[in-house]
Amino acid sequence: MVDLVVKSQDIVDRILTLELVRVTERAAVSAARLRGRGDEKAADQAAVDAMRRELNRLPIDGTVVIGEGERDEAPMLYIGEKLGTAMGPKVDIAVDPLEGTTLCARDMPGSIAVMAMATGGSLLNAPDVYMEKIAIGPGYPHGIVDLDMSPEENIRALAKAKGVNPHEISVLVLDRERHAKIIEDCRRIGCALRIIPDGDVAGIIFTAQPEKTGIDLYLGIGGAPEGVLAAGALRCVGGQMQGRLILDTEAKIERAARMGVKDPKRKYDMKELAAGDVIVSLTGVTDGPLVQGVRFDKDAIRTETLIYRSLSGTVRKIAAEHREMGKFKLD
Ligand code: FBP
Repeated sequence: MVDLVVKSQDIVDRILTLELVRVTERAAVSAARLRGRGDEKAADQAAVDAMRRELNRLPIDGTVVIGEGERDEAPMLYIGEKLGTAMGPKVDIAVDPLEGTTLCARDMPGSIAVMAMATGGSLLNAPDVYMEKIAIGPGYPHGIVDLDMSPEENIRALAKAKGVNPHEISVLVLDRERHAKIIEDCRRIGCALRIIPDGDVAGIIFTAQPEKTGIDLYLGIGGAPEGVLAAGALRCVGGQMQGRLILDTEAKIERAARMGVKDPKRKYDMKELAAGDVIVSLTGVTDGPLVQGVRFDKDAIRTETLIYRSLSGTVRKIAAEHREMGKFKLD
């Protein structure tokens, strides 16, 4: 009997995996129509509308735990919004309909549409604040890097575990003034530093495949919502990540407390950021190292999506051709 229950839940998850691909595909196509138009808000709104529309078609009883803001400031996909037909499993939903809005508005590499779905109650309910993050790929002893160690200590520890010299480690950071100390440490050690303008969900995922992406270590401060999404994906492929919310005002501490964050200084590991069975889907809007951006060809619209599933550790890359015929218009 128990077995049967597990199997039917598994089937639901498997069906949902493909459904999530459709959700991020449509968000990506809608945003991609506004690539390079210099209008971040319009591109983001287009992605939000498409994502919401698609999520509402799904047989789920979903709640947005990571969204576009809180109810009064975000008309759609706000934290707490209910999504789906309510005729299915209770799930947590984390969305970033357009990650890298500026990249999309400037038609630069690396913008994606991304979302995660997990068993109800298992994604960190994080307010839209900053988060300190550190991430490495799979194959290292647990705890060899830590948010409480300096950048230099982390780089040296990782190099030792990898069996290379510290200057052979490659680090990725967002191009922000707040990362001056990290950059200074990397320069002193002589390690390679990739400084990206935006997009740390992908930046963290890069650490999972250093031989392909050239990145061993992610360090720095980015958005908390992006941290939860990245943790979901990294969990599926292995790797280690820690995150700590930056709650530096009373107002932020209170907001976080209302969402269930009791200890404002708590360090979360990957499994606490994204627990349970997690599915993460990301589709390229502009070209990037993980996925190609949307192509508007004469005969079809082409998309590329990565879908991660923690239950099986499966990662699929789905190249799709969409023909705008019949009633299923893409946006
Ligand atoms: P948006 O798509 O919301 O612009 O986020 C892009 C991004 O670079 C994220 O990847 C990152 O986590 C965050 O911004 C960093 O925030 P900030 O730009 O305020 O430093």
